[in-house]
Amino acid sequence: MSILITGGAGYIGSHTCLCLLNKGYDIVVVDNLDNSSKESLVRVTEITGREIPFYEADVCDTEKVIEIIKAHNVDSVIHFAGLKAVGESVRMPLEYYENNLVSTLHLAEAMVKTGVKKLIFSSSATVYSADNEVPLTEGGRLGCTNPYGWTKYMNEQILRDVSVAHSDWSIVLLRYFNPVGAHESGKIGEDPSGIPNNLMPYVSQTAVGRREFLTVFGDDYDTPDGTGVRDYIHVMDLAEGHVAAVEYAQRFTGCDAINLGTGVGYSVLDMVKAFEEANGVKVPYKIGPRRPGDLAMVYSNPEKAERVLGWKARRNLIDMCRDIWTWQKNNPNGFKK
Ligand code: NAD
Ligand code: UFG
Repeated sequence: MSILITGGAGYIGSHTCLCLLNKGYDIVVVDNLDNSSKESLVRVTEITGREIPFYEADVCDTEKVIEIIKAHNVDSVIHFAGLKAVGESVRMPLEYYENNLVSTLHLAEAMVKTGVKKLIFSSSATVYSADNEVPLTEGGRLGCTNPYGWTKYMNEQILRDVSVAHSDWSIVLLRYFNPVGAHESGKIGEDPSGIPNNLMPYVSQTAVGRREFLTVFGDDYDTPDGTGVRDYIHVMDLAEGHVAAVEYAQRFTGCDAINLGTGVGYSVLDMVKAFEEANGVKVPYKIGPRRPGDLAMVYSNPEKAERVLGWKARRNLIDMCRDIWTWQKNNPNGFKK
């Protein structure tokens, strides 16, 4: 039996592959390398000592996915593959709806045709509407403000409907908060193409000298220091959450949404300070205007994950900042040689 990992060469996927291999699972990866490099999986093999069957293919290619499922006796699927940049989704909505929805529809069709009934889906805290109180619980109101978010919202709805039609399926919708950090070896990590949109890759690229300074998007929010507050979660904790979700899918049927966060919110300036302290480096920054669409405070109530999955984030802010820096220092140009 093996687990099919779509998008497994990407940031969260590669860390999850590592955790699953270390736990003794067999995996097979399909990724079209649209936003990643095969080198991430080469590094995972270096760390774990285990080869990873890899297919450079599009998840929208149903026949290919069916062939892979049959060849590897796949029992469960973790579906990471998708486009994920909020700003880009506003400029290219059709590409986002097409890739993120068609990939899930075709993957589910391949699963129906091969009798695979366990699916873990990468959702996001972005499915919660802006009018909820924090901390966010899974029963919060849903609604989005950009095409990327709507693709997650619509995928969740599609999968809830699939679970009604196929009552023996197990579908886990994991709503991630803000994944950061890297494996402690510094061999794999986040490798954004171009100028990073997210805070922590920007912070680390500033510290390493690739960017002149960080722009803090607004210091007039209703938060303790005026800068935006988020629930940053170490990517290795997140990866371990997927292992727990795979195990949960063995013992339940239905469709269940679960937050993966720490339950603690940190501000932009908290993150800059922690990064400087953890690594003994300076991160020059300037205060700029708010970024359109940003919320003041987003953090999770993580209790359901602990109750249902028996999983809890274990790593702290210093671990996150130290591990990002180890990765960035050792790989100033990411996976590029
Ligand atoms: P990533 O871009 O590093 O990984 C996604 C992978 O999917 C890439 O390797 C890409 O090449 C691949 N891919 C995209 N479309 C594909 C297709 N049609 N067929 C085959 N492969 C395809 O992103 P990530 O940060 O690892 O995110 C993984 C998942 O988690 C995504 O679905 C993302 O939306 C979701 N998510 C990410 C975050 C975050 O902040 N990183 C937060 C919430 C949710
Ligand atoms: N920020 C800056 N300067 C930067 C980048 C970010 O000040 O250069 C601030 C933002 O304003 C925000 C915080 O840092 O207050 C975090 O911003 P990110 O862009 O890192 O993360 P977001 O919370 O905006 O969004 C992320 C992912 C989404 C996902 C969401 C889930 O990018 O895909 O988390 O909560 F949906």
